[in-house]
Amino acid sequence: MKPESEARIGGAMSRADGRDKVTGQALYSAEFQLPGLVHAALATSTVASGRIVDIDTRAVERMPGVLLVLTHRNAQSLPQKGRAAVQPPAGRVLTVLQDDRIYYNGQPVAVVVAATPEQARAAAQALAVQYAPEAALLDFAAERRRAYRPDSLTGGEPDTRRGDPEAAWQRAPFRIDATYSTPVEHHNPMEPHATIAAWNGDELALYDSTQYVDGVRNTMAKLLGMDPAKIRVICHYTGGGFGCKGSMWSHVALAAMAAQKVERPVKLAIERTQMFGPVGYRPFTEQRVQLAADDHGRLLAVRHDVLTQTSTLEDWTEPCAVVTRMLYACPNVATSHRLVALNVGTPTFMRAPGEASGTFALETAMDELAARLKMDPIELRLRNHADSDGHKNLPFSSKSLRQCYALGAERFGWSRRNAQPRSQRDGRQLVGWGMATATYPTHRLPANARVELRADGIVYVASGTQDLGTGTYTILQQIVADALQLPPQRIRVAIGDIRLPQAPVSGGSMTAASVGSAVQAAALDLRARIVQTALADAASPLHGLPTDAVEWREGQLRAGDRRDDIAAIVRRGGAPLTGEARAAPGTEAKQYSMHAFGAVFAEVKVDEALARLQVSRITGAYAVGTLLNAKTGRSQLLGGIVGGIGMALFEETLLDVPSGRFVNANLADYHVPVNADVQAIDIAFVPEEDHLVNPLGAKGIGEIGITGVAAAIGNALFHATGKRIRELPLTPAKLV
Ligand code: MOS
Repeated sequence: MKPESEARIGGAMSRADGRDKVTGQALYSAEFQLPGLVHAALATSTVASGRIVDIDTRAVERMPGVLLVLTHRNAQSLPQKGRAAVQPPAGRVLTVLQDDRIYYNGQPVAVVVAATPEQARAAAQALAVQYAPEAALLDFAAERRRAYRPDSLTGGEPDTRRGDPEAAWQRAPFRIDATYSTPVEHHNPMEPHATIAAWNGDELALYDSTQYVDGVRNTMAKLLGMDPAKIRVICHYTGGGFGCKGSMWSHVALAAMAAQKVERPVKLAIERTQMFGPVGYRPFTEQRVQLAADDHGRLLAVRHDVLTQTSTLEDWTEPCAVVTRMLYACPNVATSHRLVALNVGTPTFMRAPGEASGTFALETAMDELAARLKMDPIELRLRNHADSDGHKNLPFSSKSLRQCYALGAERFGWSRRNAQPRSQRDGRQLVGWGMATATYPTHRLPANARVELRADGIVYVASGTQDLGTGTYTILQQIVADALQLPPQRIRVAIGDIRLPQAPVSGGSMTAASVGSAVQAAALDLRARIVQTALADAASPLHGLPTDAVEWREGQLRAGDRRDDIAAIVRRGGAPLTGEARAAPGTEAKQYSMHAFGAVFAEVKVDEALARLQVSRITGAYAVGTLLNAKTGRSQLLGGIVGGIGMALFEETLLDVPSGRFVNANLADYHVPVNADVQAIDIAFVPEEDHLVNPLGAKGIGEIGITGVAAAIGNALFHATGKRIRELPLTPAKLV
């Protein structure tokens, strides 16, 4: 492949921002240097419920370098108090020092500002806060009797029902009724949340690590009662988010409030331990799945009932059962979601929220059903293949799941599997093979972009999106290179600033579909303008020719021997040429059900004597529409699968019930996969064209990679050992 062809859509172009990142040129939010910058640290509550009786700020105010101790007593009274819902159903009720109430352990109770980060942190730790603790709701088992139905759910209604699942259950010869659980998990991006807040009169600049610059601007405007036009949010690079930076949390507002008081720019960088505090997490889920099948393995009834927890501040529901509504063909399906409110921080979107946790339950239950039927797990899934979306009652815009099963099985060697558990060995180790279906919906929101050709011959691309490490800079460069047939060196991408054309949250795996479509349309608009300008220009060799006589090639317009250079066209005109676009979804989501699909296969090796479990191999085969970049796209799926290994084997945040504190709130005790845990991962793509989802034909790939992985690993563990573990993570203690 020629180097420049790598820059086209689908090419394996390396990350556009790779060099800047590895050489330290890429500035992350906490790294901006502003004159007079001072440093803030959060003090957080040590009880889970109650009131603040007293805070002795005087001793701390005398500590070296301390400029401000901001508490509920001296904090600005905000018009919205903590209520900053700008993106329902995430209501985002923040804890921003508006009263003396404590709702969870780890809640901000004060912000200390000092000359250095060390001074701020020392002072925050020294702050003496007296509480009047109250009985806290912390014991999920005890509180479950108070479970309630949330008003709404990301991805649909909390409860759904079609057909008559109970009647079908009664007459079914084969039934599975099992309960699965997933623990609290924390996002733990490499870069913790960080904000620099700088006021200039009544204007506020925020350098914030976020997945949504426009969301931060709007949330802050609402919370502080400000004109959004007076707030600028900048985020050039984000060191990972996994969903926790998709909403704005309390610390951003607290940084702005502190900066207003001290009249200096304030940096508030969240400590790793505080990443387990007021910034969201994946909630605990308990999921009962009932599957009933006939003698041929056809599903007669499906129920998926989800019980999960939220905070006392806000109803946020992990939508685990949404995937069950559409994944398999079945006439009788019921799903429900119930919430238990506890005195903990509010949970949030994390790595395929609902799909990752829900496919663990559903795809494990399918494996249990296959074992009961003595049927191959792929065969069971093929017999229940949904040719259309039975919940929405819509055709799929495209679906290549059968091909994913076939390709994945072939690459993995599935046909050599001995179905009998405990039948495969490698020396003293048991070997197990398991599989699961992967799926994630294809979303899209309106987005805007501007593409400008200047006299220097460089094309400047602008959109107020952001790159949370997924490759947005890179694919936008490729899309423009493709549309204008230019080398990537001639394309500069500017994102991460609300002064650029508005773009949606980088969440829900939709940035490529949303922003990519806008950038492509803007580039094509620019191309048309360049041609028109040349043809109308008496100084152009192409003057007066009809549009269709002109060929666009490598930065030149050509017609026979006549040529005009695009940069020369701009120079003669004396002003840049600009293409602009707003790209929005049409009615396709009402006409089609749109999803990416995949199949994931796992091999585990188990040493029973040592209770040691290793995932030795994973194969994932995916159909994701147009793959915009073969290299970064593969990396996205690799990363998702690694997240799936973490979910399957390690990740679990433990809540201490008397105190309400997360006890393993650090990266030594909260385990994520390291290189030794990640062995061979094979990614394959099923070619798929889908012109219905969006102009690029790209389905989202940010999150599908994690879906199905925990189930495939758990199913492999069952195949290896004959032992079914229904609670994540699959730790050695549960093996013995
Ligand atoms: Mo992702 S959990 O949709 O930011």
